[in-house]
Amino acid sequence: ILTQIKHICCIGAGYVGGPTMAVIAQKCPNVKVTVVDLNAKRIAAWNHEDLTQLPIYEPGLAEVVKEARGRNLFFSTEIEKAIDEAQMIFISVNTPTKTYGAGKGMAADLKYIELCARQIAKISQDDKIVVEKSTLPVRTAQAIKNILDHTGNGVKFQILSNPEFLAEGTAIEDLHSPDRVLIGGDTTIEGHKAIQALVDIYAHWVPKDRILTTNVWSSELSKLTANAFLAQRVSSINAMSELCEKTGADVNEVARAIGMDSRIGPKFLKASVGFGGSCFQKDILNLVYIAKSYGLHEVANYWEQVVIMNDHQKRRFAYNIVKTLYNTVSGKKIAFLGWAFKKDTNDTRESAAIYVADDLLNEQALLAVYDPKVSDEQIYSDLDYLNSRSSEDNATSVTIYNSPYDACKGAHAIAVLTEWDEFKEYDWLKLYNDMQKPAFVFDGRGILDKELLESIGFVYYKIGEGS
Ligand code: UDX
Ligand code: UDX
Ligand code: ADP
Repeated sequence: ILTQIKHICCIGAGYVGGPTMAVIAQKCPNVKVTVVDLNAKRIAAWNHEDLTQLPIYEPGLAEVVKEARGRNLFFSTEIEKAIDEAQMIFISVNTPTKTYGAGKGMAADLKYIELCARQIAKISQDDKIVVEKSTLPVRTAQAIKNILDHTGNGVKFQILSNPEFLAEGTAIEDLHSPDRVLIGGDTTIEGHKAIQALVDIYAHWVPKDRILTTNVWSSELSKLTANAFLAQRVSSINAMSELCEKTGADVNEVARAIGMDSRIGPKFLKASVGFGGSCFQKDILNLVYIAKSYGLHEVANYWEQVVIMNDHQKRRFAYNIVKTLYNTVSGKKIAFLGWAFKKDTNDTRESAAIYVADDLLNEQALLAVYDPKVSDEQIYSDLDYLNSRSSEDNATSVTIYNSPYDACKGAHAIAVLTEWDEFKEYDWLKLYNDMQKPAFVFDGRGILDKELLESIGFVYYKIGEGS
């Protein structure tokens, strides 16, 4: 097997594949990196001369693309050509939760992965290292291997698992200085050579002691476990936020107090309207599904509770708005500040805002949405995807604004769904003057200045803070 990698191909130009390959290309100028995707529109956007038109928004990404694109970083729809040329192929396609059949709503849908494996098998004429980058259930590498080992043309494949730990909004920072890079591979000599080839790529910029190598199963399971633990911290602090509201404690004070215990640590203890993003829920449901498939029902129930708590947190936020507005929001304008699942990204997958909006629309509210980065089409498509009502009804009840001041004009309440920094800088007096009275603010991220808002006259509700 080849150990000197001259050409890398990545299948899938999404939130993971795009930034990861951009950084590999930036740091390894002697390696040609080609990112391919079926979606021609997306590839065109990656190739757009105007770097503000890249298909995903990530701080620092445009600079990296600018440096490497055209030099040794290429975006293309010529999938077969790129596979053929490459010695190392990353699979970075999406693996949504299945929406049909066995494991519906729980298991990962691996059809895109399988399609990739079959395409690689069909095209390859020389030995290749295939790297799974997408988040996958444990034992997916084996499935890929089974497909690749039956090409019948003597080509040999090594399968590596190299899970991505980058978080959106900080992707470039996370890629430039990762806490660790994890590479899982076969324990054979050939397997070790393949692992070493990928270690050599990362060693261009990542200190050696941060590159961990394991067997394939450990690597795959570590990814699911890391996300499950992170999500569990958020659900744990969110569970406490409800108790704090009832008892008069302040969840931020509780978080600070427990976070100073070095065994607990201060990060990932921010109470919120619920976690979102493409990974947490999907990975936990995946873990639950795998545990159940082995008959481990206590393990499955333990982790499923993290998702149940998260659903509850979103629902109770919406319900609290209804209850506070005198038990009806019918015909009332409610302004949403933020739609993305977290700040500094235009990604909305599983964003809490979608579910809070859905609940309020069921109560016949009129929503006015402002998000600095999310497109109008994305917001409507997120709501339509839920199938709770017709898209005509969504279009009538939801209006999207380019200015927060317009969104909030005449509103009965403002709900903060994403923690965008700019929300803190608004002229809150001006917002107040243009609203219905009493004017309510429901701060689902706990980012606003309570004293200031109350002194202006707002009725202010902050997640996790009892009165
Ligand atoms: C996550 C993992 O962090 C990353 O390692 C993995 O590769 C992919 O999944 P991501 O989903 O991009 O990354 O963002 P993350 O920062 O983990 O936030 C996930 C969700 O949890 C967001 O909705 C965020 O707002 C929420 N969150 C996070 C909280 O509500 N409170 C916190 O303290 C932290
Ligand atoms: C605990 C808290 O740590 C301490 O802060 C509090 O004041 C009292 O309760 P303690 O019960 O004395 O202290 O011991 P601790 O070290 O926390 O262990 C508790 C149990 O957890 C033990 O049975 C220990 O074996 C077990 N444990 C701990 C594990 O099984 N795995 C671990 O990783 C850590
Ligand atoms: P992630 O967050 O995992 O990166 P995305 O949905 O943002 O997920 O990106 C995955 C990309 O993979 C999409 O752009 C999709 O078009 C692409 N894709 C899926 N299947 C294939 C395939 N068989 N060949 C090429 N690209 C694919």
